[in-house]
Amino acid sequence: MKMHRFEEIFLTIASIIIIGSMLVTGYQTFALGWGPPSGKETIDPQKVSETAPFDEPGIYKVGENEYDVIMTLQTFSFDPGEIVIPKGAKVNFIMTSKDVVHSIQVVDTNINAMVTPGHIQRISHTFNESGEFLMLCNEYCGAGHQMMSGTIIVE
Ligand code: CUA
Repeated sequence: MKMHRFEEIFLTIASIIIIGSMLVTGYQTFALGWGPPSGKETIDPQKVSETAPFDEPGIYKVGENEYDVIMTLQTFSFDPGEIVIPKGAKVNFIMTSKDVVHSIQVVDTNINAMVTPGHIQRISHTFNESGEFLMLCNEYCGAGHQMMSGTIIVE
């Protein structure tokens, strides 16, 4: 088979990049043990409703202007689906999924995290601007994925 010289160069460079990234990722994962932070805390996904704190999802005041939001994600909703907090509040989202892989993205903030069954995901954010923020699932989770949304109201 006769290959054009540029094809050879292109294939060589592409192969080096692909094999190189696999080696780097493999080294980080298996030798250094790097992984997503959400992999640290686990939960039985079949028993989310009976496991504290997820047996009582909601908004809990834990400090001066700090709140814990205990949230479950399921097809196709966030529970709680409406979160009302005062301006300047620090919110610690503590989340898990009851079924499949979902995610939480809050428009106009840097909140964007995957929420997988069997794992507890934590993410904190301080809401310094008042307004209504749209909360979306951006991980395809089934036929009703596009309806999975909620609201955060900062007043
Ligand atoms: Cu949940 Cu898409």
